Amino acid sequence: MKNDPAPAATASDPLEVVLRYHRETKHHFDRYARSLGYMDWANQPNPFRRYEGSPVVRLPILKPDDAPRSPRYEDLYHQGVIASVPVDIRSLSRFFECSLAITAWKQAGDVRWALRANPSSGNLHPTEGYALIDAVAGLLPMPGLYHYAAKEHALELRAEWSREHFAALLREFPPHAFLVGFSSVNWRETWKYGERAFRYCQHDVGHAIGSARLAARTLGWRMLLLDGVADDTLAALLGVDRTEDFIGAEREHPDCLAVIWPAGPAGGVATAQTISLPRFVTIDAVRDSTRTTWHGKASRLSRKDPVQWPLLDQVEVAAWKPSTEMRTARTIVETSGAIVDAGASASRIYPGDPSAAQVIRQRRSALAFDGKTSISSGSFFTMLSRLMPRTQLDLCQRPLPWDMLHWEAAIHLALFVHRVDGLAPGLYVLARDPAKVSALRTAMHTQFAWTSPSGCPVDLPLFLLDEGDARQLAAQLSCHQDIAGDSAFSLGMLAEYDASLQRYGPWFYRRLFWESGVIGQVLYLEAEASRVRATGIGCFFDDPVHRVFGLNDTTFQSLYHFTIGGQVDDPRLTTLPPYELDH
Ligand SMILES: Cc1cc2nc3c(=O)[nH]c(=O)nc-3n(C[C@H](O)[C@H](O)[C@H](O)COP(=O)(O)O)c2cc1C
Repeated sequence: MKNDPAPAATASDPLEVVLRYHRETKHHFDRYARSLGYMDWANQPNPFRRYEGSPVVRLPILKPDDAPRSPRYEDLYHQGVIASVPVDIRSLSRFFECSLAITAWKQAGDVRWALRANPSSGNLHPTEGYALIDAVAGLLPMPGLYHYAAKEHALELRAEWSREHFAALLREFPPHAFLVGFSSVNWRETWKYGERAFRYCQHDVGHAIGSARLAARTLGWRMLLLDGVADDTLAALLGVDRTEDFIGAEREHPDCLAVIWPAGPAGGVATAQTISLPRFVTIDAVRDSTRTTWHGKASRLSRKDPVQWPLLDQVEVAAWKPSTEMRTARTIVETSGAIVDAGASASRIYPGDPSAAQVIRQRRSALAFDGKTSISSGSFFTMLSRLMPRTQLDLCQRPLPWDMLHWEAAIHLALFVHRVDGLAPGLYVLARDPAKVSALRTAMHTQFAWTSPSGCPVDLPLFLLDEGDARQLAAQLSCHQDIAGDSAFSLGMLAEYDASLQRYGPWFYRRLFWESGVIGQVLYLEAEASRVRATGIGCFFDDPVHRVFGLNDTTFQSLYHFTIGGQVDDPRLTTLPPYELDH
């Protein structure tokens, strides 16, 4: 659908630009957000970037039973159960395998495409992964910044770091810590989705963050998002601001940085200590060119230059995290003490008791649902319990993966329940922060019931709002996609929109999508472990969704939809292994 070009920008205040971007990229029943209106197949961007000319280290392709072996999926959600393994080439291989690697090739006729551990809107994969890591046996003999090449399951050395420089940057972190960074080739999504693409790139970053946290946990590693880092600093650290390495290549937008480290002996529990991030991750600390040697040139991904969308350039600038932001983050110190098992209330045996890696490897988006399969209320409540960040606990004692995000949960769920045994079909809401129930209640239709469903765990703030058949409504609201109505349940993720942007600033717009993506990643795996399947839904009619719940202003905005149910397989698709074993 071809749409008129965006009206010329008038607002220059970054917050105004972000608000305007969000408004302008809403889908309406009679008008979709602006895009090219057709698919320029000849210009489709390559989903795999390489840094040509950089030294490459192939990661070993490990069989499922090779060490380090994956823990049970259920154990991911219990603290102190998974013993930490050392950081070496094999554990790094496992980490990337379970976070960003190819998990299968699919083939239909002559067409082949790769699927990965992390999902992506349109399977376009804008997210690029990096690791800044000390010299470990099997990698190169110096600390280095590596780019992860998913097609080869390899690390490409982007920059050699001096030992002192590396030690200085990571001195506040626990031993053997390394950094993981993400950036986005926004063009990969823009190519297909036009102006709404910036949203999808952020969702995908959120999925990658969630995927990395879960992968780290399979190895007993901890992870913390270093949210205080300015985007200029991150761009310098990842080298995506090096115009000399991107001549003729599509740019990468810096997204986020996380620290990962092997936890102390199992049974140790973490306490938090607040430190100010800019003390050690500053632009001066990373941009010391005399101590860093760069390698490789970014590969070009499309034949033609990217199509320009002025609104996208504007929102990138407006949502850039400024260097003046001084937020604090927590570092975690291992101490001995009692284990607090925050996830215990949601304990559950999954069918077949699968390993975590098995669930991660088989994660797929359902292309269609059968319109029949129901799930048990126990399964439904567990899935929702996994999404509760339990912010009353100290950060490091919160359940996975909410122990890595230190902002207050700002996303709640508006649910369309179709087929959950023992639950009346209808509209429901889950307040991920119990303190926000009254704000949600004030914002929504006054006639809603707000009753707790029978059997609902006492610590799960889930409420029935309105009983009734919501199947057609859910599909209609999700761009007429049947997957939202033929499932067991679907949902919209409601962000505390105005308050978050006012409180933190326009750069927090991206974080709201990241939080949604992490929620999505947890749900994808929960669905898989429960022998049903999920699909993320980026295409929905924004304001019609708000109207169904009585949301008349921008206090809450739906940012991402999701659906879970019994899938219908497509028999025309063949599945091929992700990598050759003799790699
Ligand atoms: C942010 C996001 C939005 C998505 N939106 C839709 C959608 O609107 N409709 C749909 O059928 N699939 C949607 N998907 C599913 C993707 O098409 C799917 O993740 C991709 O094809 C890769 O397949 P996989 O998830 O099986 O690895 C979305 C996925 C993500 C991560």
